[in-house]
Amino acid sequence: MKKVIILGCGGFVGSHLTDRLLASGDVHIEGWDVSYDKVSEHLDNPNFNFHQRYVDADTTFDELGPHIADCEAVISLAAVCTPAQYVASPVKTIRSNFIDAYSLIDLCSEHRSWLFHTSTCEVYGRTLSSYVPTDDYQDLDLYEQREDETPLIMGPTRNHRWSYATAKQLFERYIYAHSAESGMPFTIVRPYNWFGPRMDFIPGRDGEGIPRVLACFMTALLDGQPLQLVDGGGAYRTITFIDDAIDALSLMLEQPKQAQNQVFNVGNRASEVTMKDLAFLMRELAAEITGKDAFLEHPIEDITSDKFYGEGYEDCDRRVPDVTKAESRLGWKAKTDLRETLRITMTHYFEQYGRPAGLTPVRDA
Ligand code: UGA
Repeated sequence: MKKVIILGCGGFVGSHLTDRLLASGDVHIEGWDVSYDKVSEHLDNPNFNFHQRYVDADTTFDELGPHIADCEAVISLAAVCTPAQYVASPVKTIRSNFIDAYSLIDLCSEHRSWLFHTSTCEVYGRTLSSYVPTDDYQDLDLYEQREDETPLIMGPTRNHRWSYATAKQLFERYIYAHSAESGMPFTIVRPYNWFGPRMDFIPGRDGEGIPRVLACFMTALLDGQPLQLVDGGGAYRTITFIDDAIDALSLMLEQPKQAQNQVFNVGNRASEVTMKDLAFLMRELAAEITGKDAFLEHPIEDITSDKFYGEGYEDCDRRVPDVTKAESRLGWKAKTDLRETLRITMTHYFEQYGRPAGLTPVRDA
């Protein structure tokens, strides 16, 4: 039986990875998180030992020591990862993504344990194309993101948007530094907008604040409010279905020789969409899923980023991952297209939150 540690096992990605690893029957998980709502069905599983604690608490690192010594991999997934928080709480963002977390790298390095870290595609920052006004995404070399080649381009320090990306970038660099000096094996994953059931929260129902775009648009659809396009909704994202992403993580865990000491982009470049087109597609799918044609006319409006997030927001313009490394080293390729990803995900949200407003999926009605 393989033993792994998962920090952040109760979050969106953590809970899906926990589902998959426990279903395999040959993995024991020592999991840390402050909440267990998303993994409550596993609490009685003898292969799952849940520690309800903030991952960054000093006591967590003390507790981790004995487990690290005999585990296969330490998977770190805990993060503050919503852009609204980077702008509203940059100190907390930097603290939680670097200062309170770097001891984990020291600890893994001491034990030469495999540190399996989920970073972010946001470390690439903005594309070179966005700084070359005449390029207009004509030159792939100026905007495709390649793990070991592409420069990481953050905007000015005064824009707090980059508090997260720079903390994550330093975390990656600290992993590399330790690995070079101690031989600690590592894997760094850069997720590209992984979407799926249980992502984020719906404000006023099971959380407060501004979640990421999927949950923002779902909240608007559930509440009969306009979908808001920040600065016109021209930013591009590549949307990746969570099950495809978990396939990639599983392949890495199964093939340490292929995965260790590598950075991997995990994204679905075929599912690229602007936020404006995403809004139109989501309202179309809302009509299809609930059988309520009124969604086809659901209002969509523009809003400035200053008004939506507050001062200090700046957007990542485009994120096109080069995924040839994941394909060639792991045999991984995203399988689920954008429409199917949204259909599965939105159906789940309507099932979970739609009943009070009479917005359940047609097949459940
Ligand atoms: C966030 C994190 O910062 C990344 O680290 C992470 O990799 C990524 O989510 C992810 O989900 O993988 P981002 O894509 O910028 O990055 O976050 P979102 O809040 O989902 O925003 C996506 C785009 O939608 C942005 O252009 C944002 O301005 C826009 N948006 C958001 C809207 O137009 N309307 C909204 O109501 C919310």
